[in-house]
Amino acid sequence: MARNHSPAELEALRKGILSTRDPHKPLITLCSGSACQASGSKEVAASLEAEIEKQGLSEAVNLRKTGCHGFCERGPIVVIHPEEICYFQIKPEDVPEILSQTIQEKKVVDRLLYTDPVTKEKIVQERDIPFYKYQERLVFGSNGSVDPKNIEDYLAIGGYAALAKALTGMTAEEVLQEVKKANLRGRGGGGFPAGRKWEGTRQAPGDIKYVIVNADEGDPGAYMDRSLLEGNPHAVLEGLTIGAYAVGAREGYIYVRQEYPLAVENVFIAIRQAEEYGLLGENILGTDFDFKVIVHQGAGAFVCGESTALMTALEGRAGEPRPKYIRSNIVGLWGRPSVLNNVETWANVPLIINKGADWFTQYGTESSKGTKIFSLVGKITNTGLVEVPMGTPLRDIIFKIGGGIPGGKKFKAVQTGGPSGGCIPEHLLDLPVGFDELTQAGSMMGSGGMIVLDEDTCMVDVARYFMAFLTDESCGKCVPCREGMRQMLKILTRFTQGQGKEGDIELLEQLSETAIEAALCALGKSSPNPFLSTLKYFREEYEAHVREKRCPALSCKALIAFHIDPDKCQACMMCLRKCPSEAIVGGKNRIHVIDQEKCTKCGTCFEVCPPRFRAVRKTSGEPVPPPIPEEARTIVRESKPK
Ligand SMILES: Cc1cc2nc3c(=O)[nH]c(=O)nc-3n(C[C@H](O)[C@H](O)[C@H](O)COP(=O)(O)O)c2cc1C
Repeated sequence: MARNHSPAELEALRKGILSTRDPHKPLITLCSGSACQASGSKEVAASLEAEIEKQGLSEAVNLRKTGCHGFCERGPIVVIHPEEICYFQIKPEDVPEILSQTIQEKKVVDRLLYTDPVTKEKIVQERDIPFYKYQERLVFGSNGSVDPKNIEDYLAIGGYAALAKALTGMTAEEVLQEVKKANLRGRGGGGFPAGRKWEGTRQAPGDIKYVIVNADEGDPGAYMDRSLLEGNPHAVLEGLTIGAYAVGAREGYIYVRQEYPLAVENVFIAIRQAEEYGLLGENILGTDFDFKVIVHQGAGAFVCGESTALMTALEGRAGEPRPKYIRSNIVGLWGRPSVLNNVETWANVPLIINKGADWFTQYGTESSKGTKIFSLVGKITNTGLVEVPMGTPLRDIIFKIGGGIPGGKKFKAVQTGGPSGGCIPEHLLDLPVGFDELTQAGSMMGSGGMIVLDEDTCMVDVARYFMAFLTDESCGKCVPCREGMRQMLKILTRFTQGQGKEGDIELLEQLSETAIEAALCALGKSSPNPFLSTLKYFREEYEAHVREKRCPALSCKALIAFHIDPDKCQACMMCLRKCPSEAIVGGKNRIHVIDQEKCTKCGTCFEVCPPRFRAVRKTSGEPVPPPIPEEARTIVRESKPK
């Protein structure tokens, strides 16, 4: 006989969290995405399995290894349902206590809870933790509750209901119109409306058409697509299948980089299971719609994420872009009409079909609807994946969700849009995130990389870093990209080495103009963005590098120097002992001195000098004072009164 459920159980049942297992049993979910695996979740899983057995709990508890929960800074994460007790940074040694206390005794283990950094209070449930509280996890939320290797989990949360609705209750045209009405814009880069792209393919002549998932994701610091594919591959497959139905495709491809082995593994499993359940293959759900999906593992070149390069690579040739005289939704893969969309774009489709365009468009701004997943990384307290409604101010993402800048440092800028994006300065922190808003600010949405930079970051060096990345990744097919970027990189490197010349900034601007005008694909065309956006907001830093050979952020090695203030040095020997190049001379009761010839500017002395002395000084653009003469180096200490 069924017993009455507690409110928490009912809520969990409603969300489908417990539904593929006996809902009366507690469920332990363990984040098993790549990031948590790197911090030991495999070992925690092994320990949980062994300890469940040991404590005789095999019949009393369910264990589910899920995808990424998003709060990567605090992984591995364990959540105990239905109470949603959330434990962070779990080690195998914590497991016996979790099982004996929380599962058996129904007690919370305080030391494993999240501590609010402001109030110092312990927080039990995920939804009360600021990192999660201010998010709207429409697309990413299921990652934490389904086992990506088990299709039944996805079915239990209503998975494939949208496909059933589309195939049995809607015409292909109606599906297309719903996606158009939702104004779903591409989450992979340009923000092109998916419905319009699909419409072009649907209306294009020809019987053979393709749909493709872009899971190349080569941006440094970005891992939204990897986590979605690893954690909820069926959502992407379902979206892709609905898209295929809408445009009249019978074949689809998932282009995923082979450096994402867990994503690749889970996608293969998901395809096999969907085929077994009649959700892929012939006569899907008993209709006359056939659709098969092929996985292509990319070799990991950033340019292969570009639409035409990706299609060329799929055709088995070197992944280089081709001119887009005709859009690839009309003439794409093997010359056939092809819809290419990003992982996250596809994952939004089942939601739109299930809940309708009107529901979807309540989220977001006038021109950017729905939510967006960002990977929040860099100088930020809470590194992780966050999903917020479009229109959320940057300030909320960085400070409310991200917890601000660690180490008491000041925020300087946030780099959005991947290597071809731009840097947004502090005075624009209230900018709402949206495709058009970010572009107007000189950056872009890109696929959702968000790298936070603090006061110690040199903006000239940031531009140099991204230019170096893009120069490396240029396929070399067109001259403005191949040669232009190389020259831009040379100039930017000169700046950071104190060899900038008058006129160099203007030369960079000219080269930028040429690349924007003449490069073949968006890699080259957008390559000047990091330079142009940092110049727009931080021109004084460029001028300091070129004119004064000074790095205001005290970051460019060639432009900084370390020396020890003789009035503050207490001869504690910390810097002397730690200096890896033995560049510090001194001794007990002898004021230390840095040998500038030997110093490699690694900054170790600066870091280890005790805060109560602050004797090591880091400077730029000013001469290093001459070393204190030998005879004046002895510290005479007053003897303590007896
Ligand atoms: C150099 C370069 C790399 C790109 N890499 C990716 C990528 O990794 N993933 C992605 O979805 N889009 C990437 N794009 C954007 C794609 O060209 C394309 O616009 C996108 O996949 C279309 O899907 P969407 O409309 O759903 O965003 C890249 C573009 C360029 C120029």
